Amino acid sequence: MAGAANIEFRQLEPGDKCTGLSAGKAVFAPLKTYFQRNAKAHHAASLARTYVAINAAEAKIVGYMTLICSQISTEVPLADADFRYREYPAVKIARLFCDSNVRGLQIGKTLVELAVGIAQEWVAAHVGCRFIVVDSKPESVGFYLKQGFTILDTLDNKRSDSPLMFIDLLRSPKA
Ligand SMILES: CC(C)(COP(=O)(O)OP(=O)(O)OC[C@H]1O[C@@H](n2cnc3c(N)ncnc32)[C@H](O)[C@@H]1OP(=O)(O)O)[C@@H](O)C(=O)NCCC(=O)NCCS
Repeated sequence: MAGAANIEFRQLEPGDKCTGLSAGKAVFAPLKTYFQRNAKAHHAASLARTYVAINAAEAKIVGYMTLICSQISTEVPLADADFRYREYPAVKIARLFCDSNVRGLQIGKTLVELAVGIAQEWVAAHVGCRFIVVDSKPESVGFYLKQGFTILDTLDNKRSDSPLMFIDLLRSPKA
């Protein structure tokens, strides 16, 4: 897979070096730690699929995203008013992270576009899957809104430390 200039996007591979990322704020340190300690094992065990952004010139991983199967449970209708299901099938962006030195270079946006493409063209094309979801961090809500996500419109969710945001794959512009 290829992406923005000088940055390549592909699945995590066994020989990849998972150290050396900079978290920036302490609140993002768990995302760095997950990548160092768990990403390869979860990828190999098919518990999660991790995609990496690589600075091709330096052969250095500068960002990653982890995708998992998921479902969302809510009493709030998320899509057509006809739907009253309490659970909906989804692909979840479980983790998304860019090195603090390369933020603002459209790498996060490209990883999200990759996730939406995978959910629409690979998953939903073969298995019932209506949404792509993320438990955002409050500081990242603005980022996900720009990528076309909607925040679940309940007071509890909007006040949450990890507000649920979603894209309806049938209504996304790419659908
Ligand atoms: C959030 C994160 C993944 C975004 O990746 P990025 O490569 O820095 O962002 P991009 O350059 O792709 O930004 C795309 C757009 O979103 C905007 N944006 C980026 N971060 C934003 C934020 N926190 N709030 C509001 N808008 C944001 C950019 O300005 C850009 O806008 P534009 O398209 O109008 O130019 C990255 O900053 C990061 O790793 N943050 C720390 C970890 C984190 O918060 N992960 C998400 C947890 S759920």
